[in-house]
Amino acid sequence: MTHSDPIDAGIGHDLRDAQDGDGARTSDSAAVAADWSPASWRARPALHMPTDYPDPKRVEAVERELSAYPPLVFAGEARRLTQRLADVAAGKAFLLQGGDCAESFKEFHPNNIRDSFRLILQMAVALTFAAGKPVVKVGRIAGQFAKPRSAPTETQGDATLPSYRGDNINGMEFDAAARRPDPDRLLRAYAQSASTLNLLRAFSQGGYASLGNVHRWMLSFVDRSPAGERYAALATRISEAMTFMAACGVTPETAPSLDQTEFYTSHEALLLGYEQALTREDSTRPGEFYDTSAHMIWIGDRTRQPDHAHVEFCRGVRNPLGIKCGPSLDPDDLVRLLDLLNPSDAPGRITLIARFGADKVEAGLPKLIRRIQAEGRTVVWSSDPMHGNTETSEAGLKTRRFERILAEAGRFIDVCRAENAHAGGVHLEMTGQDVTECTGGAEQITDADLTSRYRTHCDPRLNNEQALELAFLIAEKLGANRAA
Ligand code: PEP
Ligand code: CO
Repeated sequence: MTHSDPIDAGIGHDLRDAQDGDGARTSDSAAVAADWSPASWRARPALHMPTDYPDPKRVEAVERELSAYPPLVFAGEARRLTQRLADVAAGKAFLLQGGDCAESFKEFHPNNIRDSFRLILQMAVALTFAAGKPVVKVGRIAGQFAKPRSAPTETQGDATLPSYRGDNINGMEFDAAARRPDPDRLLRAYAQSASTLNLLRAFSQGGYASLGNVHRWMLSFVDRSPAGERYAALATRISEAMTFMAACGVTPETAPSLDQTEFYTSHEALLLGYEQALTREDSTRPGEFYDTSAHMIWIGDRTRQPDHAHVEFCRGVRNPLGIKCGPSLDPDDLVRLLDLLNPSDAPGRITLIARFGADKVEAGLPKLIRRIQAEGRTVVWSSDPMHGNTETSEAGLKTRRFERILAEAGRFIDVCRAENAHAGGVHLEMTGQDVTECTGGAEQITDADLTSRYRTHCDPRLNNEQALELAFLIAEKLGANRAA
């Protein structure tokens, strides 16, 4: 096939039917607005995108090449995630979204993918048990490369260079050649995303995700954890419940659903040339476009201007969308965003990801919730307790304190409860690796410890232990709410 052939790219009839469940006809019917196209964002101002590619012709060539590559996800999968998120919006399920701040070429390794996946499963078990609801599992993975940066340049000593923007744009090393944007990095990011997703699909469907395994992980965590008592009780109850189920004959062999799990991918839709190249029309539903780079994409706190490029692009694709909501988001602008991004108020389409900071969430979040309720809109409320709690250690490293992360997540749940909204999910930067990037937690990582295993390519992540501890503490709180 040549580049000028129309690309259906595997979301045609057969695959669509295989992927769509019975309830798949929930999407709102109107095809995309006549004034939208996958390229219409190009006429709008676009912040946080590189404008200094030395060879713009090569950028075009790479984007053309990518637009002929296979889609990474299918339209039907994105529709199914929308249905799952509609359940979250209705209070019938809980969303767990997490992974690296920025994936990197350097940390690309099957063990890292496995450990991130396992961590999400472990956290999901704790949350499912306590909340008594299914947990929708969405990784920040298989495409989470590009980063908005607070400054366009970085100075070290006498030298000033362009900031690092993520491995799909430039390199992290502080030298001029590495910091030059290189469009060929997009091809490598695509290849890494494809093979990451391939492994995730195998893990989620090939038996690795069996609840029988999770049982063992839970026990080992309780044994290992110095401050395990608070959640040891919960973990023990989970183990007991699973032993009981097994005794009743409910095992992964008899109930195949215990052997598999649904796992979805997501990233910030920041680098719109790449997102456009992976956007395809669903041949079975003319006029419906999907960004096939991930199941879910989100708009960052710095690129959510209603008249700018990122909102314009996201308006026309039918994936479920996240919107980061920070202290600067005015309730009127939020309503404007919803008018643009979800005019028919389709449930599951929009997840609002609150990222205020532990000391701002109680003042900022109620205004947004009340406005959404007054407008009668349907959204998922999720908490990102990471991005409003970033600080700099004495040694100059970006870090976050576990107790502040926990405090924001807890206050988010309290505010939702007081406002009669469902606390629907959490959005976390975390890794299955044993890193030292955030302080505190059961292991009591100190400022001085940070340098020992500080590996992030952007923001500090919760390590395996901290993330699981946080999940148990959130689970405890959700469980207490359920009891009340
Ligand atoms: C992020 O999620 O990595 C991020 C940059 O978040 P925010 O847009 O909320 O600052
Ligand atoms: Co981040």
